[in-house]
Amino acid sequence: MNHNKPIEIVDNIFFIGAFDPDIRTFDIIMKTANGSSYNAYLIKTEEGVIIVDTVKLEYQNEFFAKIEQLCSYDEIKYVISHHLEPDHAGAIPELIKRASQAKVLISPQATPMLKAITDKDDIDFESVWTNKTLTLGSKTIKFLTTPYLHWPETMSSYVVEDRLLFSGDVFGSHYYDKRLFDDLVGDFSYSFKYYYDHIMRPFKTYVLNALKLYDKLDINIIATLHGPIIREKPYKYIELYRKWSLDRPDNISSNNKIISIFYLTSYKNTRDMAESIFDGAESVKTIRASLYDLASIEEQNMINILEESDGILIGTPTINADAPKPVWDLLSCMMYLEKKGKTGHSFGSYGWSGEAPKMILDRMKSLHFRVPPMESMKIRLIPTKDELKNCYNFGREFAEIVNGKMIEIDMN
Ligand code: FEO
Repeated sequence: MNHNKPIEIVDNIFFIGAFDPDIRTFDIIMKTANGSSYNAYLIKTEEGVIIVDTVKLEYQNEFFAKIEQLCSYDEIKYVISHHLEPDHAGAIPELIKRASQAKVLISPQATPMLKAITDKDDIDFESVWTNKTLTLGSKTIKFLTTPYLHWPETMSSYVVEDRLLFSGDVFGSHYYDKRLFDDLVGDFSYSFKYYYDHIMRPFKTYVLNALKLYDKLDINIIATLHGPIIREKPYKYIELYRKWSLDRPDNISSNNKIISIFYLTSYKNTRDMAESIFDGAESVKTIRASLYDLASIEEQNMINILEESDGILIGTPTINADAPKPVWDLLSCMMYLEKKGKTGHSFGSYGWSGEAPKMILDRMKSLHFRVPPMESMKIRLIPTKDELKNCYNFGREFAEIVNGKMIEIDMN
């Protein structure tokens, strides 16, 4: 298949995106062993042309060459931009120069970004949102407000006549395969899940909100912004997103709250504290607590455990006035997760200065955890029986708060 030709995906809707087989890291945090694609589309009607998203700047020549095979620039009536991240908006400045009569359709949140990427104040644009519709010739496009998937300004749209969902980043994969359609490409399941985990999982509440909008549609084909276009079993992929966004461990009922206690220990002192805190947490009915030694846990397991936890306690000794690296590695995993509603606190045994629990607490606050207004549990060296009793009470109090005990929490 020739990379330089548009590909008709349904009647009069064409793929005009670009393939990037050689990219190996995307957005700094993602490995892309199979490359990727920047999907863009062109809709032809009797009354003019609509361009749907663009490509990364360095691929714009390929994008414009495809447009020129289908229409002249003065036929372009609208440019719909579902997402203004540069991998999809890189060619917008040049496109609106070449098609200066075209109106740009974006979400209301995208307005300042559009001005920033084009460096122009006189762009002809209009904001669109759920229930707004565009009709041009024989195509009717309904807009859907789907923020945070994956930036605040993102939206989706639906072509009524073709039952086609332009999903934006949603349902994408960083997976280059010139065969383009899900029923023709190789096995991209790992990439689809990996993309969800890294791009969508931190916004899973927004995913569920978007699914409520998609559930009202009859979807035959999903035209994503990355990777395969999904036409064989669109609902299989929609249900995977629903399942992943709702996931709870199979053995724990939704009536239980999950508290995960992570600890590092040099001389078993912080571990003894962790065990007493665990006992205190477990004494609260409906709490299911677990202990994890941070020295021996894989990153993917950390992410999964953090994801499922309602409450997170981190215990560590202080070494050279800092928390050791595995603690920061754990907290860095929060980048991949939704923080909303998670409660956190810290504890640790120390020899001299004992700064680490406060450092953890500060980091939790900056990540927008709910941090109850109680002191971190700090004990100098070996905990006494009374101090272990205090740890028990600390765990119990924390668990009651996770369980819904009313307290005032300053989230600033
Ligand atoms: Fe594919 Fe969020 O850009």
